Amino acid sequence: MENDLKLMKKLGPCFPMVDITEKEFDLLRTLIYQNFGINLTYQKRVLLVCRLQKDLICKGFKTFHEYYDHIISDRSGQGLIDLVNRVSTNMTYFNREKPHFDFFWETALPEITKRLKEEGNNDIRIWSAGCSTGEEPFMLAIQMHEFFGRDYAKWDAGVLVSDISNKTSEIAQRGVY
Ligand SMILES: C[S@@+](CC[C@H](N)C(=O)[O-])C[C@H]1O[C@@H](n2cnc3c(N)ncnc32)[C@H](O)[C@@H]1O
Repeated sequence: MENDLKLMKKLGPCFPMVDITEKEFDLLRTLIYQNFGINLTYQKRVLLVCRLQKDLICKGFKTFHEYYDHIISDRSGQGLIDLVNRVSTNMTYFNREKPHFDFFWETALPEITKRLKEEGNNDIRIWSAGCSTGEEPFMLAIQMHEFFGRDYAKWDAGVLVSDISNKTSEIAQRGVY
């Protein structure tokens, strides 16, 4: 409870106006887990309320149960898309998790390229599985350009991106920072 209050204070203007019952929270967290694999623990209750209540109020629902019913009966799938866009945490920036990029530069790239050269293979593909708005894949692409230098064109190099949130992947596709 104390943590909930701290989080509400931190989140400020999104102080929950519509409360969520335990049953409603369970329904939503199960829906989110089953569809997106995002596991919201009970500590994330306030966070979920804060992230969803604006949508709930704008769409004219009075309870989270009504909101849930709307999502599961929406055959267009848009309700689920809006849900994951609100629920996913898209924090990213260039060089976030620097040790990972250091590892990529110092260990992964040298070892992988050595192995590929031995095999006579020039296909090097990196997958940024939760790319958010694209800073991570662009960092990886920059690193590959720097690593290969003038030889870059000799490699069939690329970064595959994906994200469960279409809102962020649209920004990643624009690639404007
Ligand atoms: C915290 S961000 C991190 C972004 C980037 N990888 C970085 O490290 O800067 C996590 C991203 O993973 C995405 N995500 C979460 N679960 C996913 C899944 N099952 N499949 C694809 N993307 C997912 C979220 O939408 C979010 O944009």
